[in-house]
Amino acid sequence: MFDKLIQTLKNAPKTIVFTEGNDPRILEASAKILQDDFLKPILVGSEEEILGVAKKNGFNVEGATIIDPANYDKMDEMIDTLCELRKKKGLTREDAARMLSQANYFGTMLVKMGYADALLGGATYSTADTVRPALQIIKTKPGNSIVSSCFILSREKDGNNELLAMGDCAINIDPTEDQLVEIAEETIKCAKIFGMDPKTAFLSYSSLGSGKGEDVDKVRNACAKAKEKMPEEAIDGELQFDAAVSPEVARTKCPDSPVAGYANTFIFPDINAGNIGYKIAQRLGGFDAYGPVLLGLNAPINDLSRGCNAEEVYSMAIITAALA
Ligand SMILES: CC(C)(COP(=O)(O)OP(=O)(O)OC[C@H]1O[C@@H](n2cnc3c(N)ncnc32)[C@H](O)[C@@H]1OP(=O)(O)O)[C@@H](O)C(=O)NCCC(=O)NCCS
Repeated sequence: MFDKLIQTLKNAPKTIVFTEGNDPRILEASAKILQDDFLKPILVGSEEEILGVAKKNGFNVEGATIIDPANYDKMDEMIDTLCELRKKKGLTREDAARMLSQANYFGTMLVKMGYADALLGGATYSTADTVRPALQIIKTKPGNSIVSSCFILSREKDGNNELLAMGDCAINIDPTEDQLVEIAEETIKCAKIFGMDPKTAFLSYSSLGSGKGEDVDKVRNACAKAKEKMPEEAIDGELQFDAAVSPEVARTKCPDSPVAGYANTFIFPDINAGNIGYKIAQRLGGFDAYGPVLLGLNAPINDLSRGCNAEEVYSMAIITAALA
């Protein structure tokens, strides 16, 4: 799965900001990135501290750009730009300076101002603290109404690389019908970037009318709208998870469905179901989980899990930059 993304980057190398520049996992991943020339890390933090941690752990980060918000020579320009962007919120220069002393806001502004192509944070920041600056500053792409997310899950099966896409497991807490349609559209696009042929199931506790309730109606209506909006895509719902993935169950519950039994792209009704669902696949299903990959943002910014290791940082950096 990564060969395709690395080839994309080799054709058009990118720069990526790491907001937690002094974290040993970030430095180990940066050292690995610097062994090739398709991606250049920008490490945010004190140069002395970053180089000290790298030296102590034996990571060679020569060639990385290190930028310290405490002595950044373009800070005045950055403060002006942030004040302009947030003027409707009444942001003062003091507020802006305080925000930009924090690596999450500072790094996001490097992307906004075109000094970097992509950003990866969240090794120590929470999801909310990584995502909020992006929502406030980078905003949604033209034509999108929300930022959402998906996970790409990967495992080896019978000598093949099995890939699944799951959205939205990380951002929108209780999406509306129309937001579910947008989540599906973006998740399908993302699945294709990873080389998948998406077969999309809108998940529920009901399969094509077997159960009743407001939550079922939401998923059914969203699925109907998604089918209308993307007639060329294989989409069905509402489907229970077993009907979505088991050909045997699908034959009994929904024999005429073009998706049931073979779904590989899953749209969850809300963040509770989605977050629990992808973690079950990861922890009990033996899948590696990559994400959350943020969707619908005007620039590629992604969030790491705080429990991540250097290998995951490296993988997410490639995914994030390849989306640029
Ligand atoms: C993403 C999240 C952090 C945003 O929450 P928040 O910062 O409290 O959001 P606010 O309502 O204060 O909005 C902040 C800004 O982001 C924008 N925003 C919020 N959610 C958005 C979305 N889904 N898409 C686009 N913009 C969004 C708001 O419009 C607002 O913009 P403005 O300041 O220019 O007016 C919140 O939805 C959240 O906590 N989600 C769950 C995250 C999580 O815990 N995931 C599980 C672990 S992976």
